[in-house]
Amino acid sequence: MDHLLALIVAQAEPASQGWLRDWVTAWKIHPILVNFTAALIPVSVFSDIAARLWNNVSLRIVGYWTMLFAAAITPFTVVAGWLFWDHNDNGDLHMTIHKWLGTSMAVILIGVFAWRATSQVQSRRPGWLYLLVGLAIVAALIYQGNLGGEKAFGM
Ligand code: HEM
Repeated sequence: MDHLLALIVAQAEPASQGWLRDWVTAWKIHPILVNFTAALIPVSVFSDIAARLWNNVSLRIVGYWTMLFAAAITPFTVVAGWLFWDHNDNGDLHMTIHKWLGTSMAVILIGVFAWRATSQVQSRRPGWLYLLVGLAIVAALIYQGNLGGEKAFGM
């Protein structure tokens, strides 16, 4: 009976959806890459806040480089998310929010890094407005991760 069901499912679904999508799905690339995005953004923002509070230059440099790495890796996280998307995610409001919030985040991070880079090249500390925007992005990231986890682990 199990074999028969497996055969019916195999007939109903295409065997391959393209090598890249197959690879991303088989190796769970999106759940791997999300860890980099989810770690780098808060480390950057909190390092910059701590650098500002305690006037610490090395923490300020951490804030700069981690935002550079976050902006560089998040487009890959997003592309892996698009490739990880399957028919079960269609029509799910939370996953639709997850999709567009995540995609917007990759674009916004490039602008945020450009903003962060201007203070770096001028050897200035990032301003409070930048830090407030950074905190808003951390909040959006927590919500984003919660939406993904809710779907993946059925919370
Ligand atoms: C900043 C960008 C993003 C972050 C931080 C993020 C975060 C997450 C997290 C934490 C999970 C749970 C992972 C796990 O199984 O351990 C997840 C799952 C998922 N995400 Fe994302 N995501 C992002 C962008 C996207 C985008 C743009 C899409 C689609 C267009 C997407 C599609 C998915 C899918 C399909 C799942 C699996 C849900 C399931 O199990 O059915 N993600 N994401």
